[in-house]
Amino acid sequence: MSDADTGLIEALRLQWEWGADEALLESPQDRRHAAPAVVPPSAPPKPSAPPAAAARPRAPSLPPPPGDAAKLAASCHDLEALRAAMAGFTGCALRDTATQLVFADGAPDARLMVIGEAPGSEEDRIGKPFVGPAGQLLDRMLGSIGLDRRTARIANVVPWRPPGNRTPTDSEIAICLPFLRRQIALVRPRGLLLLGAVAAKALLASPERDQGIGRLRGTWRPVTIDGLDAPLPALPTFHPAYLLRMPAAKAQAWRDLLALRQWLETEDQPTKITSL
Ligand code: URA
Repeated sequence: MSDADTGLIEALRLQWEWGADEALLESPQDRRHAAPAVVPPSAPPKPSAPPAAAARPRAPSLPPPPGDAAKLAASCHDLEALRAAMAGFTGCALRDTATQLVFADGAPDARLMVIGEAPGSEEDRIGKPFVGPAGQLLDRMLGSIGLDRRTARIANVVPWRPPGNRTPTDSEIAICLPFLRRQIALVRPRGLLLLGAVAAKALLASPERDQGIGRLRGTWRPVTIDGLDAPLPALPTFHPAYLLRMPAAKAQAWRDLLALRQWLETEDQPTKITSL
């Protein structure tokens, strides 16, 4: 292998480690040999008008005090206002590496809200949650109990894709959580389906939040949301991405779906919620 090849592989590895794991253009561009932009010496001095906002480099965003997102979220009185507030929020650094905000999908007044972890690459490209391989499995899971993504509401704990699909950090989750909680308060679902450990840990209170998803799954747990009169019943289950990797867990996930179907059929009766 030539030195040039080794250099290319190293450059590719660096990009991959930094989360650049998909191509944006059809054909590769070798920017190492791109001609530098040349400013003719005789060019007249630029007018001193401020550069257009889009051209200005964005300052790296620092995590704001958690109160900022909480205040912003609390000031939103409908879902469109919440979406706009999140789109303009600069307090989460994930926004700088993601293509776009992935807000939510489904009915604004759904009975069931399904909560995932964070967008992946397909979701980041399209701007909707759960449209990649895990989303296709989720669609089949919901379909098996007579639901679909238009009648449910689907959102994530974190609305921007973490680079390289890594798990969001505790600090990223803490920053974004007020937006998800506000969305739940505005949708006012009758129950929640929590997909995977991140969603369960983000929304459940202690001592439930300190348990693994294997222990929590399959039992309705309480989630308290500001603005709702009573704790919402929430059913933790395995994340569909985990089920794609561990098909043996599908039998347990199926039992959880049956519990969900039974809940949907008897929704007018009080749900038995279990705290640890
Ligand atoms: N996984 C998630 O948790 N959310 C998505 O939107 C897609 C995959």
